[in-house]
Amino acid sequence: MEDQDVVSVHVENRIAWVKFARPEKRNAMSPTLNRRMMVVLDELEFRDDVGVLVLGGEGSAWSAGMDLKEYFRETEAQGLRGVRKSQRESYGWFRRLRWFQKPTIAMVNGWCFGGGFGPLFSCDLAICADEAQFGLSEINWGILPGGGVTKVVVDLLPMRDAMWLTLTGDLIDGRQAATMRLVNESVPLDRLETRTTEVAELLLKKNPVALKFAKDAVRRVNLMTYDDAEDYLVRMQEACNFHDKSEGRKEGIRQFIDEKSYKPGLGSYDLSKARAPAN
Ligand code: COA
Repeated sequence: MEDQDVVSVHVENRIAWVKFARPEKRNAMSPTLNRRMMVVLDELEFRDDVGVLVLGGEGSAWSAGMDLKEYFRETEAQGLRGVRKSQRESYGWFRRLRWFQKPTIAMVNGWCFGGGFGPLFSCDLAICADEAQFGLSEINWGILPGGGVTKVVVDLLPMRDAMWLTLTGDLIDGRQAATMRLVNESVPLDRLETRTTEVAELLLKKNPVALKFAKDAVRRVNLMTYDDAEDYLVRMQEACNFHDKSEGRKEGIRQFIDEKSYKPGLGSYDLSKARAPAN
Protein backbone atom coordinates (compact mmCIF):
# COMPACT_ATOMS: atom_id res chain seq x y z
CA MET A 1 0.00 0.00 0.00
CA GLU A 2 1.28 3.48 -0.92
CA ASP A 3 1.80 5.88 1.97
CA GLN A 4 -0.78 8.34 0.69
CA ASP A 5 -3.48 5.65 0.51
CA VAL A 6 -3.82 5.40 4.30
CA VAL A 7 -5.64 8.74 4.49
CA SER A 8 -8.29 9.90 2.03
CA VAL A 9 -8.88 13.59 1.32
CA HIS A 10 -11.72 15.23 -0.53
CA VAL A 11 -12.44 18.97 -0.60
CA GLU A 12 -15.94 20.12 -1.52
CA ASN A 13 -17.77 23.39 -0.81
CA ARG A 14 -14.96 24.60 1.47
CA ILE A 15 -15.13 21.49 3.65
CA ALA A 16 -12.05 19.23 3.72
CA TRP A 17 -13.20 15.66 4.34
CA VAL A 18 -10.19 13.81 5.70
CA LYS A 19 -10.67 10.14 6.52
CA PHE A 20 -8.50 7.47 8.09
CA ALA A 21 -8.37 4.93 5.28
CA ARG A 22 -7.16 1.59 6.61
CA PRO A 23 -10.61 0.04 7.00
CA GLU A 24 -9.17 -3.47 6.79
CA LYS A 25 -7.17 -2.63 9.95
CA ARG A 26 -10.06 -0.69 11.51
CA ASN A 27 -8.10 2.53 10.83
CA ALA A 28 -5.50 1.73 13.47
CA MET A 29 -2.87 4.45 13.50
CA SER A 30 0.41 3.09 12.16
CA PRO A 31 3.59 5.17 11.82
CA THR A 32 2.82 5.41 8.09
CA LEU A 33 -0.63 6.80 8.81
CA ASN A 34 0.73 9.23 11.40
CA ARG A 35 3.32 10.58 8.96
CA ARG A 36 0.71 10.90 6.25
CA MET A 37 -1.68 12.78 8.53
CA MET A 38 0.99 15.40 9.21
CA VAL A 39 1.53 15.91 5.47
CA VAL A 40 -2.23 16.12 4.84
CA LEU A 41 -2.69 18.73 7.59
CA ASP A 42 0.23 20.72 6.19
CA GLU A 43 -1.28 20.70 2.73
CA LEU A 44 -4.78 21.69 3.84
CA GLU A 45 -4.15 24.21 6.59
CA PHE A 46 -3.76 27.41 4.59
CA ARG A 47 -5.68 26.52 1.44
CA ASP A 48 -8.11 29.31 0.55
CA ASP A 49 -10.74 26.80 -0.55
CA VAL A 50 -10.80 25.11 2.87
CA GLY A 51 -12.78 26.66 5.72
CA VAL A 52 -13.48 23.63 7.93
CA LEU A 53 -11.80 20.25 8.34
CA VAL A 54 -13.80 17.12 9.11
CA LEU A 55 -11.96 14.02 10.35
CA GLY A 56 -13.78 10.75 9.68
CA GLY A 57 -13.03 7.08 9.13
CA GLU A 58 -13.56 4.73 6.19
CA GLY A 59 -15.46 1.53 6.87
CA SER A 60 -16.76 0.31 10.22
CA ALA A 61 -14.24 2.17 12.40
CA TRP A 62 -13.33 5.73 13.16
CA SER A 63 -10.04 4.50 14.59
CA ALA A 64 -9.12 1.38 16.56
CA GLY A 65 -6.41 3.47 18.22
CA MET A 66 -2.70 2.97 17.89
CA ASP A 67 -1.61 0.06 15.71
CA LEU A 68 -0.55 -2.62 18.19
CA LYS A 69 1.74 -4.29 15.68
CA GLU A 70 3.25 -1.42 13.69
CA TYR A 71 3.15 1.37 16.28
CA PHE A 72 3.99 -0.62 19.41
CA ARG A 73 5.62 -3.97 18.66
CA GLU A 74 7.63 -3.08 15.59
CA THR A 75 8.92 0.24 16.90
CA GLU A 76 9.83 -1.30 20.26
CA ALA A 77 11.90 -3.81 18.33
CA GLN A 78 13.94 -0.83 17.04
CA GLY A 79 14.76 0.26 20.58
CA LEU A 80 14.23 3.60 22.25
CA ARG A 81 15.14 5.51 19.11
CA GLY A 82 12.28 3.86 17.21
CA VAL A 83 9.79 4.29 20.03
CA ARG A 84 10.54 7.98 20.49
CA LYS A 85 10.37 8.61 16.75
CA SER A 86 6.93 7.04 16.41
CA GLN A 87 5.71 8.92 19.51
CA ARG A 88 6.91 12.22 18.03
CA GLU A 89 5.12 11.45 14.78
CA SER A 90 1.77 10.67 16.37
CA TYR A 91 1.82 13.33 19.10
CA GLY A 92 3.07 15.76 16.46
CA TRP A 93 0.03 15.58 14.24
CA PHE A 94 -2.36 15.43 17.20
CA ARG A 95 -0.84 18.71 18.41
CA ARG A 96 -0.89 20.18 14.91
CA LEU A 97 -4.59 19.35 14.68
CA ARG A 98 -5.32 20.84 18.13
CA TRP A 99 -4.06 24.22 16.96
CA PHE A 100 -5.19 23.90 13.34
CA GLN A 101 -5.88 27.18 11.60
CA LYS A 102 -9.43 26.19 10.62
CA PRO A 103 -12.15 24.78 12.87
CA THR A 104 -12.21 21.00 12.96
CA ILE A 105 -14.96 18.44 13.51
CA ALA A 106 -14.45 14.79 14.45
CA MET A 107 -17.11 12.74 12.66
CA VAL A 108 -17.05 9.44 14.53
CA ASN A 109 -18.74 6.73 12.51
CA GLY A 110 -17.70 3.60 14.42
CA TRP A 111 -15.02 2.18 16.73
CA CYS A 112 -12.97 4.73 18.65
CA PHE A 113 -10.38 3.16 20.93
CA GLY A 114 -7.52 4.32 23.12
CA GLY A 115 -5.12 6.39 21.06
CA GLY A 116 -8.10 7.49 18.94
CA PHE A 117 -9.09 9.74 21.84
CA GLY A 118 -6.04 11.87 20.91
CA PRO A 119 -7.38 13.11 17.57
CA LEU A 120 -10.91 13.09 19.02
CA PHE A 121 -9.77 15.70 21.55
CA SER A 122 -7.71 17.56 18.95
CA CYS A 123 -10.86 18.28 16.96
CA ASP A 124 -12.77 21.32 18.17
CA LEU A 125 -16.18 19.69 17.88
CA ALA A 126 -17.23 16.06 17.72
CA ILE A 127 -20.32 14.47 16.24
CA CYS A 128 -20.80 10.73 16.34
CA ALA A 129 -23.15 8.03 15.20
CA ASP A 130 -25.43 6.44 17.78
CA GLU A 131 -23.85 3.20 16.57
CA ALA A 132 -20.28 4.34 17.36
CA GLN A 133 -18.44 2.56 20.18
CA PHE A 134 -15.87 4.27 22.38
CA GLY A 135 -13.51 2.54 24.78
CA LEU A 136 -10.22 2.85 26.60
CA SER A 137 -9.03 -0.64 25.80
CA GLU A 138 -5.53 -0.07 27.18
CA ILE A 139 -6.30 -1.74 30.51
CA ASN A 140 -7.49 -4.81 28.58
CA TRP A 141 -4.04 -5.37 27.16
CA GLY A 142 -2.02 -4.28 30.13
CA ILE A 143 -1.07 -0.64 29.77
CA LEU A 144 -2.36 2.72 30.97
CA PRO A 145 -3.97 5.16 28.53
CA GLY A 146 -0.79 6.97 27.49
CA GLY A 147 -0.01 9.26 24.61
CA GLY A 148 -2.04 11.99 26.26
CA VAL A 149 -5.19 9.87 26.49
CA THR A 150 -5.52 10.02 30.28
CA LYS A 151 -5.16 13.78 30.09
CA VAL A 152 -7.79 13.92 27.35
CA VAL A 153 -10.43 12.03 29.34
CA VAL A 154 -9.73 13.99 32.51
CA ASP A 155 -10.07 17.25 30.59
CA LEU A 156 -13.26 16.18 28.84
CA LEU A 157 -15.07 14.18 31.51
CA PRO A 158 -15.92 14.24 35.20
CA MET A 159 -13.47 12.20 37.29
CA ARG A 160 -15.83 9.30 37.95
CA ASP A 161 -16.50 8.79 34.24
CA ALA A 162 -12.81 9.16 33.36
CA MET A 163 -11.91 6.62 36.06
CA TRP A 164 -14.65 4.19 35.01
CA LEU A 165 -13.57 4.12 31.38
CA THR A 166 -9.89 3.88 32.35
CA LEU A 167 -10.22 1.04 34.85
CA THR A 168 -12.94 -1.09 33.25
CA GLY A 169 -12.19 -0.74 29.53
CA ASP A 170 -15.99 -0.77 29.13
CA LEU A 171 -17.49 0.37 25.84
CA ILE A 172 -19.98 3.21 25.57
CA ASP A 173 -22.07 3.88 22.50
CA GLY A 174 -22.57 7.17 20.71
CA ARG A 175 -25.59 8.25 22.74
CA GLN A 176 -23.79 7.58 26.02
CA ALA A 177 -20.77 9.48 24.70
CA ALA A 178 -23.01 12.49 24.00
CA THR A 179 -24.63 12.27 27.44
CA MET A 180 -21.16 12.13 28.99
CA ARG A 181 -20.11 15.11 26.79
CA LEU A 182 -17.29 13.20 25.18
CA VAL A 183 -18.86 14.44 21.94
CA ASN A 184 -21.24 17.29 21.15
CA GLU A 185 -23.98 15.24 19.52
CA SER A 186 -24.92 11.74 18.51
CA VAL A 187 -27.16 11.03 15.52
CA PRO A 188 -28.15 7.86 13.65
CA LEU A 189 -25.35 6.71 11.35
CA ASP A 190 -27.37 7.43 8.21
CA ARG A 191 -27.63 11.10 9.27
CA LEU A 192 -24.02 11.52 10.37
CA GLU A 193 -22.64 13.12 7.20
CA THR A 194 -25.69 15.36 6.77
CA ARG A 195 -25.53 16.63 10.32
CA THR A 196 -21.76 17.13 10.12
CA THR A 197 -22.21 19.10 6.90
CA GLU A 198 -24.82 21.32 8.59
CA VAL A 199 -22.45 22.08 11.46
CA ALA A 200 -19.56 22.73 9.06
CA GLU A 201 -21.76 25.09 7.03
CA LEU A 202 -22.70 26.96 10.19
CA LEU A 203 -19.00 27.50 10.91
CA LEU A 204 -18.33 28.59 7.33
CA LYS A 205 -20.64 31.56 7.88
CA LYS A 206 -18.49 32.93 10.72
CA ASN A 207 -15.53 35.25 10.51
CA PRO A 208 -12.57 32.85 9.99
CA VAL A 209 -10.04 34.95 11.89
CA ALA A 210 -12.34 35.25 14.90
CA LEU A 211 -12.93 31.49 14.77
CA LYS A 212 -9.21 30.73 15.02
CA PHE A 213 -8.64 33.12 17.93
CA ALA A 214 -11.79 31.91 19.70
CA LYS A 215 -10.96 28.22 19.42
CA ASP A 216 -7.40 28.74 20.67
CA ALA A 217 -8.71 30.83 23.56
CA VAL A 218 -11.05 28.06 24.73
CA ARG A 219 -8.12 25.65 24.98
CA ARG A 220 -5.62 28.12 26.47
CA VAL A 221 -7.72 29.69 29.23
CA ASN A 222 -8.44 26.26 30.69
CA LEU A 223 -5.05 26.26 32.43
CA MET A 224 -4.95 29.95 33.40
CA THR A 225 -5.95 31.81 36.53
CA TYR A 226 -8.88 34.16 36.05
CA ASP A 227 -6.63 37.24 35.95
CA ASP A 228 -4.25 35.63 33.47
CA ALA A 229 -7.17 34.64 31.26
CA GLU A 230 -8.68 38.13 31.40
CA ASP A 231 -5.40 39.67 30.32
CA TYR A 232 -4.76 37.00 27.66
CA LEU A 233 -8.22 37.54 26.15
CA VAL A 234 -7.73 41.29 25.91
CA ARG A 235 -4.45 40.74 24.06
CA MET A 236 -5.91 38.01 21.86
CA GLN A 237 -8.82 40.23 20.85
CA GLU A 238 -6.35 42.96 19.91
CA ALA A 239 -4.28 40.45 17.92
CA CYS A 240 -7.47 39.24 16.27
CA ASN A 241 -8.33 42.82 15.30
CA PHE A 242 -4.88 43.16 13.76
CA HIS A 243 -5.12 39.93 11.73
CA ASP A 244 -8.70 40.46 10.57
CA LYS A 245 -8.19 42.46 7.38
CA SER A 246 -11.95 42.78 6.90
CA GLU A 247 -12.35 44.63 10.24
CA GLY A 248 -15.15 42.17 10.85
CA ARG A 249 -16.16 43.46 14.25
CA LYS A 250 -16.86 46.94 12.82
CA GLU A 251 -18.73 45.43 9.89
CA GLY A 252 -20.74 43.25 12.26
CA ILE A 253 -21.76 46.28 14.31
CA ARG A 254 -22.52 48.31 11.16
CA GLN A 255 -24.84 45.69 9.68
CA PHE A 256 -26.75 45.46 12.98
CA ILE A 257 -26.88 49.11 14.12
CA ASP A 258 -26.93 51.03 10.80
CA GLU A 259 -28.17 48.61 8.20
CA LYS A 260 -30.44 46.59 10.52
CA SER A 261 -29.93 43.62 8.19
CA TYR A 262 -29.36 40.93 10.86
CA LYS A 263 -29.39 40.38 14.61
CA PRO A 264 -26.16 39.07 16.17
CA GLY A 265 -28.17 37.17 18.74
CA LEU A 266 -29.79 35.15 15.97
CA GLY A 267 -27.02 34.52 13.44
CA SER A 268 -23.85 35.78 11.80
CA TYR A 269 -23.37 39.00 9.85
CA ASP A 270 -22.92 38.73 6.08
CA LEU A 271 -19.17 38.21 5.49
CA SER A 272 -19.51 39.01 1.77
CA LYS A 273 -20.45 42.64 2.46
CA ALA A 274 -17.11 43.39 4.16
CA ARG A 275 -14.69 45.63 2.29
CA ALA A 276 -11.98 42.94 2.23
CA PRO A 277 -11.73 39.25 3.00
CA ALA A 278 -10.83 38.53 6.64
CA ASN A 279 -7.53 36.92 5.65
N1 COA B 1 -3.72 -2.49 15.94
C1 COA B 1 -3.35 -3.36 14.99
N2 COA B 1 -4.21 -4.05 14.25
C2 COA B 1 -5.51 -3.86 14.48
C3 COA B 1 -5.98 -2.97 15.46
C4 COA B 1 -5.02 -2.27 16.21
N3 COA B 1 -5.36 -1.36 17.13
N4 COA B 1 -7.32 -3.01 15.47
C5 COA B 1 -7.69 -3.88 14.51
N5 COA B 1 -6.60 -4.40 13.92
C6 COA B 1 -6.52 -5.39 12.83
C7 COA B 1 -6.76 -6.80 13.31
O1 COA B 1 -5.56 -7.37 13.80
C8 COA B 1 -7.24 -7.46 12.03
O2 COA B 1 -6.12 -7.71 11.22
P1 COA B 1 -6.07 -9.04 10.28
O3 COA B 1 -7.26 -8.94 9.36
O4 COA B 1 -4.77 -8.92 9.57
O5 COA B 1 -6.18 -10.19 11.22
C9 COA B 1 -8.05 -6.35 11.36
O6 COA B 1 -7.58 -5.13 11.92
C10 COA B 1 -9.54 -6.43 11.62
O7 COA B 1 -9.72 -6.51 13.02
P2 COA B 1 -10.80 -7.47 13.70
O8 COA B 1 -10.43 -7.58 15.13
O9 COA B 1 -10.92 -8.74 12.92
O10 COA B 1 -12.12 -6.58 13.47
P3 COA B 1 -13.48 -6.55 14.32
O11 COA B 1 -14.36 -5.65 13.55
O12 COA B 1 -13.93 -7.94 14.62
O13 COA B 1 -13.10 -5.86 15.73
C11 COA B 1 -12.09 -4.12 17.06
C12 COA B 1 -12.78 -4.50 15.75
C13 COA B 1 -11.68 -2.66 16.89
C14 COA B 1 -13.09 -4.31 18.22
C15 COA B 1 -10.87 -5.04 17.32
O14 COA B 1 -10.08 -5.08 16.13
C16 COA B 1 -9.97 -4.55 18.44
O15 COA B 1 -10.24 -4.80 19.59
N6 COA B 1 -8.88 -3.80 18.09
C17 COA B 1 -7.94 -3.32 19.06
C18 COA B 1 -8.47 -2.05 19.74
C19 COA B 1 -7.41 -1.50 20.67
O16 COA B 1 -7.21 -2.00 21.76
N7 COA B 1 -6.68 -0.50 20.21
C20 COA B 1 -5.51 0.00 20.89
C21 COA B 1 -5.82 1.24 21.61
S1 COA B 1 -4.32 2.02 22.21
